[in-house]
Amino acid sequence: MMSYNESIKAVATDALKHVQGGMILGLGSGRAAATLVRGIGEKIARENISVRGVPTSLQIKLVAEEANIALVEPGEVSRIDAVFDGADQIDEGGHLIKGGGGALLRENILAGMAKTSIIMADQTKFVKELCAPVPIEIHPTARGFVSGLITEMGGAPEMRRLERGYPMFTENGNVILDCDFGAMQDPPGLAAELRQMPGVLEVGIFEKPDLIYKAKKDGLFEVLSPRLG
Ligand code: A5P
Repeated sequence: MMSYNESIKAVATDALKHVQGGMILGLGSGRAAATLVRGIGEKIARENISVRGVPTSLQIKLVAEEANIALVEPGEVSRIDAVFDGADQIDEGGHLIKGGGGALLRENILAGMAKTSIIMADQTKFVKELCAPVPIEIHPTARGFVSGLITEMGGAPEMRRLERGYPMFTENGNVILDCDFGAMQDPPGLAAELRQMPGVLEVGIFEKPDLIYKAKKDGLFEVLSPRLG
C-alpha cells in the first residue's frame, strides 16, 4: 500500500499541469502544499519556465526557497493565477476546514486573490458533514470576549497551545481558538456569523475551491469541481 506521502505525490504531480510559464502562483501551507511546491521547482528546472510564488507561511517559503522558486510577497501583487493548498477536512459540498498549521489568514487571502483555487487532500480528510474543530484566528485582546460569544452559541473553544503549554502565536502575532461545533449543517452560515465578531481575524471555514484532488490508494485519485455542483 502507498504511504500518505506517495498518494499525495500522485495528485501533486497531476496538479502540475495547472502550472504554466509566466504565472504567479499561490503556495499554500502543509505537507500537500510542500509536495506540490517541490514539484513546481522540478518543473521550472526541467522546462526552463519562469513562475513566481506567493507564500502563505514561513513553512512553505522555506520549501520554495529550497526549490529555487522566485518569490513575491502577497501585498506586492493584485491577483494570482492559481493557488495550491491542502485542507484539514472536506464535506460533501466541497466546504473546507483549514488552519491546522495556523496559516489560515494568509491562505484565505490568497484563495480570494486566485483565479483558480486547487485543494489536494487524501481520502481520510473527506466527510459527509464538517465536524472537526474550526480554527479561528483572533487578536489576543479579544480572547475572553470571543471565547464567551462562541460558548454562548454552543461551541467549545480551546486556545491552541504548543507542546509545553505556551500559547501558539500565528505569524501575524495573533492566537487561535480551535472551536468544536459538532457536525455543521451550514458551514458558510456559521462562518459568516463568526466573522462578524469584533476581534475575529479569520475563520478556518473556507469557500468551495474550484478543484479538489481526492487522493486514494495506490496512486489513484478523483478530481472534484464543487463549484459546478
Ligand atoms: C495550514 O494552516 C492548513 O490549512 C493546511 O493546509 C492543512 O492543515 C493541510 O495540511 P496537510 O497537507 O499537511 O495535511
